[in-house]
Formats: sequence, structure tokens, C-alpha cells
Amino acid sequence: MKRLTLQALLGLALIGFQLSRARADQVTISASKDTTLYEDAPSSSDGAGDYFFSGVNGGSSSRRALVAFDIVNSIPPGAIIQSVTLDLSVSRTHDGTTAIELHSVTSEWGEGLSRASGNEGGGAPAATDDATWTHRLWPSTTWKTPGGDYVATASATTTVQGVGSYAWSSTTLVSDVQGFLDQPSQNFGWILIGDADPNAQAKRFDGRLTGTGPQLVVDYQPPSAPSGACCFSDGSCGVQLAPGSSCGGKYLGSGSVCAPGVCPEIRGACCADDAAATCSVVPKSQCQALGRFQSDVSSCKPNPCPVVLTPFVDPLPLPAAAKPVTGKPGGAATYRLRIVQLKQKLHRDLPPTTVWGFSDTQTGRGGYPGPTIEARSGEPVRVTWVNDLRDGKGNLLTQHALAVDTCLHGANTDAPRTVVHLHGGHVPAEFDGQPDVTQLPGEQTEFRYPNAQRAATIWYHDHALGITRLNVYMGLAGFYLVRDAEEDALQLPSGRYEVPLAIQDRTFNGDGSLRYPAKWQESVFGDTVVVNGKVAPYLEVDRGNYRFRVLNGSTSRVYTLSLSDSSEILQIGNDGGLLPESFVTQQVTLMPGERADIVIDFTYAGSEVVLRNSALTPYPFGGVNAPLTDILKFVVGDGKGDTRPIPVQLSKVEPIDTKKAVTTRDLVLARSRETVCGGGMWMINGKEWGDISERPHLGTTEIWRFINHSSISHPMHMHSLFFQVLDHQPLKAKGSTYVPDGDPLQPTRAEAGWKDTVAVAPFEAVRVAAHFEDFPGRFAYHCHLLEHEDHGMMRQFEAIVVCGDGALARGLEECDDGNTRSGDGCSSTCKLERADDSDAGAEHTGTLDAGSDAGKVAARRHRSGCSVVLPGASPDANRQHTLLVLAALVAGARRRRHR
Ligand code: C2O
Ligand code: CU
Ligand code: CU
Repeated sequence: MKRLTLQALLGLALIGFQLSRARADQVTISASKDTTLYEDAPSSSDGAGDYFFSGVNGGSSSRRALVAFDIVNSIPPGAIIQSVTLDLSVSRTHDGTTAIELHSVTSEWGEGLSRASGNEGGGAPAATDDATWTHRLWPSTTWKTPGGDYVATASATTTVQGVGSYAWSSTTLVSDVQGFLDQPSQNFGWILIGDADPNAQAKRFDGRLTGTGPQLVVDYQPPSAPSGACCFSDGSCGVQLAPGSSCGGKYLGSGSVCAPGVCPEIRGACCADDAAATCSVVPKSQCQALGRFQSDVSSCKPNPCPVVLTPFVDPLPLPAAAKPVTGKPGGAATYRLRIVQLKQKLHRDLPPTTVWGFSDTQTGRGGYPGPTIEARSGEPVRVTWVNDLRDGKGNLLTQHALAVDTCLHGANTDAPRTVVHLHGGHVPAEFDGQPDVTQLPGEQTEFRYPNAQRAATIWYHDHALGITRLNVYMGLAGFYLVRDAEEDALQLPSGRYEVPLAIQDRTFNGDGSLRYPAKWQESVFGDTVVVNGKVAPYLEVDRGNYRFRVLNGSTSRVYTLSLSDSSEILQIGNDGGLLPESFVTQQVTLMPGERADIVIDFTYAGSEVVLRNSALTPYPFGGVNAPLTDILKFVVGDGKGDTRPIPVQLSKVEPIDTKKAVTTRDLVLARSRETVCGGGMWMINGKEWGDISERPHLGTTEIWRFINHSSISHPMHMHSLFFQVLDHQPLKAKGSTYVPDGDPLQPTRAEAGWKDTVAVAPFEAVRVAAHFEDFPGRFAYHCHLLEHEDHGMMRQFEAIVVCGDGALARGLEECDDGNTRSGDGCSSTCKLERADDSDAGAEHTGTLDAGSDAGKVAARRHRSGCSVVLPGASPDANRQHTLLVLAALVAGARRRRHR
């Protein structure tokens, strides 16, 4: 805030006196600060740098410049501004023309000491008080809107092309400068915004300490009357012409000056930082005793205060095992789970929270998170998912519990649509929980899960198109544990020594309700950690090994977990089950959707150990807020626990033969230029949900390369299969594209074995190998940051059966000899020629061995041929087929188990 000192005022009075004889005076003012904001590098700036940029760069992300002038110390108070010209000099540019708009900025911002010498186009790490894309004062104060807070209408616009000088001038600039003079506390200068034309190229301007820096030429009429101090309503002070009629606040009389204490103190919202989010409006000095002063907020409506909860006061809840309607838990069974709205106590000091959860119809128990489904490899499970969301009076809900941003694709109503997806399940397309096939309250669907897959920590969660983030935030998630003989043989800690941990973040209102933004935001970070449905709980443990199956079930937040006593964590598994080998580590990073199977040994631990998080948000560079540190406290008792050693060799994982890969698909992760529903749309190859271009043939292997053209990490997930991570290739910018930078890096130890979600770091390409098998149809693949997924970073691949491609679609083709000629092995519809017709039309008896290469003898029994599942076949025929394949798969998995 600028206050006029007495000397300055005297000096100005002198200038005013000297100039008063002239009819109009002119002054040329150099900029007092300037900087650049980088859209794709929200933690970068160039405060002390030599140049600033405006426009779209080669990587199609925006740069904006901020520039401000010290008006009040250059023009006498009371002057009448007559004309204003801003002169800027372009010192480097690509070809291309762009209109650059000046908008008056509405919040204070800083020019720190960051300096991107030589890399002004990319920026340097922000220093204290720098302005960045997300922050106006790094690292503590953010803009209300990333990219700067400014008046929507441009004050002036000028078209900029090549190197040279350019001028901006308008009557709005005149009133801007008049305002800056009359109310200096509102002088935040201008932001320069180039147009979003994809062909536009950023323009580089000389900064204030370089070459021809920004110059503001102002013509004004000197004041004719005395002036005095004005106290504005925000508590700031400025000098105004007598009699102070345009003061708006309190004019202190002619001859008065701005000095500390002359204006009444600002009042504003003061947060007590307690469980009730207590807010009061008090003078700033009184707030110190009460809590934290919200400097920008003068009102408690809406309440700006966070709910602050004491960690580690509630025991960790353990989700109950779901109880089958028929069959046995941990084996072949059917379940019926109702999606319900309920009130649940999430912390000792918080009133009950309205959440959505899963209620077990057999026991009436359940909630948020849902009951754990215990499954066994080769033992099929059926679940009837019932959308039974009702209000307090028992009426089916017609409206979502959270505000639905109906701008998003697929979210054109605020109906509480749900559909459950089994994340990590190898299941037929129709049971995958397709995002655009949802159920309304009162509707239900039965999904069949063959469980023809290895032991793994998988999970179920909602996947409704356009509102997945809301449904999961409300609580729709639960564990699904697949076990098998290989895992049993290891005798890992079990029973009470095996604990699932679903880690999520939430923000609460003082009444206990969940808070989530009404309008889409590109990332949403809760201010509180919730584990298995309790805020930062504690767990009493014995002295021995515990197996934790950790899931990051958050929408945006990444966790890097470590132990407060720096002791080691043994990682034994990931998304796809056991690793080939266990390894010790100090920290485990999980992006949303990922799982880690870890063992912690408390044998020699102190009496308390805290599981902590250190990941920055957004991941990995941070910039939005501080990490939530406290996750879970272990209270270590004296009881002796499970002290059997954990083997190093855990599981045999056959590497996918990448030489057999039939194609490599490049999938570029980037944000579109246009603003769609609250931001540049996060997309894959610039395409949308309905654009299907990936059609893998069943029976083939492909390499998918996720190429990240952005400065945050994206967890990329594929439905229906587990893949193997091949490598990480760092990239660097070259012209308008990205090229490899150095050698590819090996996958991390935690990425060994099988994965279904892989972290793709900023500016790197990750290759994964995937084998497509068993299930034709459409499956989603997407970024598991649920905000991105809902915005457009989700597409579908369609697995298809192609006769004559040489790849045998297990169970769907009898044979495939690589051509459609007849007489040389397979017919044009991929049926065996010279087949033994005696079993034509025979029931499919499950003799297809899912584990073998589906030999011809087994395949011959399967009479349907591939034509049935080609697109365009009747739904009934396709469904018949799916069920046959299911049966065959299950039989195959069972036989393997009994061998
Ligand atoms: Cu965890 Cu497509 O989902
Ligand atoms: Cu999934
Ligand atoms: Cu993403």
C-alpha cells in the first residue's frame, strides 16, 4: 500500500506550483515493476528478468505480462488526466500477428527476484513475492483466478507483429490512470493478454531495466485546489482534491496527509481455526488473539474460515467384509450392494456428515467407504449394484447432493446418476461400468466379475460420465481384494495384521457437510485427510509386521508417504498384485487410482509413529497449497505381533514380449487452448470421449506411449487390463514440439510387475506394453485425476476381433491363420476348415484353457466364430458370447489353480 510521506507531498505541491501556470503538463513514467506469468509453469516467474512475454508459445500455452507504474509519485494529487499512452517495445518475436489487450488488474501482485536469464520464454522458479500464474505473491497468496485477477473489459488493444515499438491509448486508459492517482491503493497496473489464436506466437517485450522498457506518457491538467488525505473503506489512504467529494471514504480535510494511524483500522473476517470454522468480523489488531486475519475478506458470509480438526483422535475404521446373498465370502458368490445416502461421523469434533456409501443388504452395514469384497481368483462374483439414494424422508433423490457443473460433457442434468466400475478388474465391457450407461435412483444393474486374474488390491468406485469426481467425493468407493494360491503360499501378515487404507482428502463446512466447488476446477485439493472414512485417525498396533493395502482414492491429491521415525517401508505389491521382488524404501508415492501393498515392521518402533505425506500440490511442482502432512498415527503397544520374515522373491511375472507388439500408439496429454467449462480442456490427443480411434485387435500386444506436454503429472489408467511399464523418456521443447532429452529411464521398482495406472511426469513420455485379451467392446482409458477425467481427459478404446489378422482372439475365434483365404487352415470367418462337425452346436463347456494359447482343439468346441462380436452384431448375440467367454475363463483359471 502506498502512502504519501510529508516530503513527497511537499515535493508534489512544489511540482504542482511550478506546473500550475501551464495549461496541460506531460510526464513520461517508467514502469515500477513488470513480470511474466506462465500458464504451463505455474510455479515459475521472471520478476527480476530482462524481458516479459505475452501471447501463446510454441507449446500452445499462454504467457501474460504484468506491468505497473508509480502514478501517485509522478503526478500531483488532484490532477485531471487528459490522455495516456503506453509505449512498449517488442525485441523478439516469431512471425504472426496477435492483438494484445491491456486489462486493469484488480489485486496486488509482486515482482520478486526470480530471474530466468536466457530462458525468459520458460521462466525460472518463483522467488518470494513473485507473481506466477497461480500466485500473486509467491508462495503464500494466490490469485482469485489463476492467470490473474483483472477487469473483464480490455482498457486498450493494439495489434502486434514484428520487432518495433507499439502504443496503447484509449479513454479507458485515461480513467484507469485517474483511478490509480485518486486511489493509489487500487493501482495494480495492467495485465497484457495476447489472443488465444493457436497460430499466435508470444511476443517478447523489453522489461523495465532493459533497452526500451515500458513508458507511460500522461498528459494532465494540474490541480487548481488544495488537497488532503482520504481514508478509503479498505483502510488505505490516498490524497484527494479538496473538498474530497470523490473520496468515497472519509476525507480528513485539506492539508491533511497520509501517515500511519491517520485512518481507522481495517476490520475483516477473523478465523478461529477450530472444528466449527468460527468466523467473526473484528479490527485487524484484535484478530491476533482470536485466530487468523483474512486480509482480503471483510465478511463472514460466505464463511471464509476452514474447519480445523485435531488429528489422531479417532480410531481407524476397518471396512467390513461384504456378506454374500448366495455363495461364500472369499469364493464364488453373489452380492447386493445398495448405494445410499447416510450420515456418518467422520471426526470426533465434527457433526455427522452426509455422505454416499454402499450398504450391504445382507447385514444392513456398510457406508463410506463401501464394504470390502473378498474374492478369489477363478471364483466368479456377481454384484447387483442398486442406486438407492434417498433423502431423509425416504424419497428417491432427484438431485445430486453436490452442485453439478452441467457445462461438462455428459453432465447435462443434476440427477444423481451412478455406475460402479471395478478398477483393476478384467471384465467384459458390459460389466465394466461404462461411464455413459448410468443408473438413476430406483434403478439397478447386475455386473459379473469372472475374477480370472491374479491376486491384487483392486477397488470399486463410481464412474458416471461428467460427475465421477462428485460421486467419489461423496464416498462411492470400496476395496475388492482378489486372493490366490501363489499369495497364500507366502504367508503374508493376515487377519488383523492386514489392513486396507483408503486415503482421500476432503474439505468440510462448519456443520460437517462436505464442501466441493460448484464450478469445475482443474484440480481440487481438500484441506483434511480422511482414511477409511475418518479424519487422520490412529491405529493401535502390535510389535510385528503389518500388511497395508494402500489406495489413493483422492480426486486430485498425490501422496508421498513416509514414516515419522524415518524407518523403512517394505513394498511388496502395486496395482496389479505382488511385485516380483519386495524392496525397502523410505517413501511411497501414489497418484490418484494407484495402490501400494506395503509391510511396516513395528517390532522395534517407538511408542508412536506417524504416516506422513510430503507431496506438493499440484504434483510434482506444487504452488497451490501446502501438503497435508498427517495421515495416520500408529500407537505401538507391547503385544507381540506377526514377526515371520517376508520373502524377497514374491511372484513370477512373465515380461510381455514387446517384439510381438503390433503397434505403438502415441497419446499426447495436453490442455486445449480454448477455455471450456472453466479452463483449457485437458485432453488426450486433442480428442474427446466419443472419438474412438484406438481399436486394438484381441489377441495382440500393443505399446502405448503417454506423452505429457504439461507441467503436472497425470496418472494414466486403462480399463480391462494390467500393463507393464517399459520406460520413461524425458522430453525437451524443440520449436513447437517436444523431442527426447537423454536416454530413457527404467521403470521404478514400484512399477515392476503389473500396473493399471501409471504416473506420467511433466514433459516425459511413458511407454507401457498391453496385451488385449478376452473381451471385445469399448473400455475407458483416462487420467485418474478425477477433475481431468470429468473435463475431457478420458477416451475409449474399442477392442475388436479381426479375422485374418493372424492374432487369435481367445474364445472368440476358432483359429486365425493370418488370411481370409479358404482351404489353408481357417475360413474367411475364422472357423476351422475341416473341423470335426460332430460337435457342431454343442454347448460351450468351458474347455477353453484361458492359460494356454487356446489350442485348436479347445477352440474348435467354440462354434460362434468371430463375426458375432464384430460391431453391428445384435446385443443379444454379443451378450451370449460374453457369457461363454466368461465361463471359459473361469474354468481355465480354476483348472490352473488345481494343477
Ligand atoms: Cu479407477 Cu476408469 O477408473
Ligand atoms: Cu479402472
Ligand atoms: Cu490429468
